[in-house]
Amino acid sequence: MGEAARVIPAEIVAGLGHMGLGRPLHGEPLTGGVSSDIWRVELDGGPVCVKRALPKLRVAADWQAPVERNRYEARWMQVAAAAAPGAVPALLGQDEATGCLAMAYLLPAEHPLWKAQLRDGLADADFAAAVADRLVAIHAATANSAAVAADFPTDRIFFDIRLDPYLGATGRAHGDLAARFQALIATTQANKRALVHGDVSPKNILAGPRGPVFLDAECAWYGDPAFDLAFCLNHLLLKSLWNRAVHAGFQRCFAALAQHYFAGVAWELPAALEARAAGLLPGLLLARVDGKSPVEYVTREEDRELVRRVARPLLLDPPVRLAAVAAAWNREFDA
Ligand SMILES: Nc1ncnc2c1ncn2[C@@H]1O[C@H](COP(=O)(O)OP(=O)(O)OP(=O)(O)O)[C@@H](O)[C@H]1O
Ligand SMILES: [Mg+2]
Repeated sequence: MGEAARVIPAEIVAGLGHMGLGRPLHGEPLTGGVSSDIWRVELDGGPVCVKRALPKLRVAADWQAPVERNRYEARWMQVAAAAAPGAVPALLGQDEATGCLAMAYLLPAEHPLWKAQLRDGLADADFAAAVADRLVAIHAATANSAAVAADFPTDRIFFDIRLDPYLGATGRAHGDLAARFQALIATTQANKRALVHGDVSPKNILAGPRGPVFLDAECAWYGDPAFDLAFCLNHLLLKSLWNRAVHAGFQRCFAALAQHYFAGVAWELPAALEARAAGLLPGLLLARVDGKSPVEYVTREEDRELVRRVARPLLLDPPVRLAAVAAAWNREFDA
């Protein structure tokens, strides 16, 4: 950002006061926040990061989201920190009145964004495996927990900001697949098994010195862990359209992530979870070109067509293995 410090929003100053963290000396907005105001602020003890949920997302389509998701993001961070130490920035506080949370500020030089690494061709399968290890640890620690489920009554928010804009909207764009998308939504809603992050995307994962750090849990929901797995794998497929030369490396990341994830699944039959993830994956793939939130780096119509050629047959005749989705994706790249 810049030379001069910016004026910290009054709600963030008030929120820090309510959390007992004191008055900020100065602050700077961080880039990337589509759904929140996110600031680095200097307190007496050093920098912290403050995030405040906005009622309307900064995206092209009109997209409203209730601000109480900030509360569930803070709750998710606490549960995740206990389940997978080091997997989240330390939570310093949350203030209901202003919809703010404060967390440890992680230095960008030591915490590059995984998305930027992938874009630049750094496809590290060991890192993808570590993402899976931490994600599945969070799912395993929260599986079949009535207490955790009761802390995340976010079915409505999850429908409004995940299931409908991705799956519902894509079903509306592809009328012949509408019933399939409705079935995917119903199956996902019916499998309330573990604490879901809801936005496990490389743009929300930092590559820290001690492993992956997950950010941005505003979609937290007690529901189907297959959603998180499929959501993340989808990004590893799509990255081949961003950096074609690294296609094979992205495929190795995909395989490592899936393998490590399933090694940690003990709360249900891994094959059952895999079938749900394999069913969701083509839906999420198509969603990122024809849903409400298309990825910004798929810009050529021929690339959108490639995604449709892979995803549509797999929606009409759903696979039960993730390897079948990867194989269909590879066939298009080798064609
Ligand atoms: N604790 C932190 N320390 C340092 N930087 C952070 C921290 N939390 C977030 N950031 C930076 O701010 C960016 C946006 O954070 P986050 O994803 O939580 O916000 P968001 O508004 O939900 O963003 P988006 O909608 O674009 O995903 C991150 O990509 C990261 O660069
Ligand atoms: Mg984010």
